[in-house]
Amino acid sequence: MSFVVAIDGPSGTGKGTITKKIAEELNLINIDTGAMYRCIALNCLNQGINQIEEKEKIIEIAKNTNVKIEHHGAEQEIFLNGENVSYQIRTEEVTKFVSPVSAISEVREIMTDMQRKMAEGKQVIMEGRDIGTTVFPNANVKIYLDAAAEERANRRYKEYQEKGINLELSYEEVLKAIEERDYRDSHREISPLSIAQGANVIDTTNMTIEEVANKVKQIILETKENN
Ligand code: DC
Repeated sequence: MSFVVAIDGPSGTGKGTITKKIAEELNLINIDTGAMYRCIALNCLNQGINQIEEKEKIIEIAKNTNVKIEHHGAEQEIFLNGENVSYQIRTEEVTKFVSPVSAISEVREIMTDMQRKMAEGKQVIMEGRDIGTTVFPNANVKIYLDAAAEERANRRYKEYQEKGINLELSYEEVLKAIEERDYRDSHREISPLSIAQGANVIDTTNMTIEEVANKVKQIILETKENN
């Protein structure tokens, strides 16, 4: 029988780090749905499609995009049509294009189907924006992570510096990009980012990763005990 933990929230709330940590500690399969949307955006850019107006072509590309997530311990590697694109999907170019691409309803339907199939019969922790609202409205556990935009920009800026990516961006530019993406992700017509019914909301602004992870873990373990 499957067991689904849905982790939703805007970017920079620590979803990725928390999900990875908990997946390892509780032996759950970690599915990063943002990475899946990023693969569609990257596939479009690789084929010279960088205008959102080319909607029909984007949908066609989404239909022909095969995404595979490989797990090596706590680490995941993302494969787009057989090629390891774990780094390419994190560039600023992809980050900018993925938000409008993910607002196309046909793209969301394709991704939602893929995500449901990936979880079939498995124990998963799936992170994204619409997991608790749309992909798994009956998820066993729903968590919504939030944090002030300034703090999220701070975390993202530090992550870029540490990973040596997007170094040309200043803190102010990272903050602006986060605010723009928040707006688009929460104002789109289809499955906008919102708090799912029954979700546990955690404001992580003044919490450490450790504190958030412990809280989420406690909620999951309590749910498992009561099932
Ligand atoms: O979590 P992320 O930053 O890697 O997500 C990339 C984009 O994909 C983000 O702008 C919102 C979108 N997304 C989505 O619409 N639904 C999801 N379940 C996951 C991500």
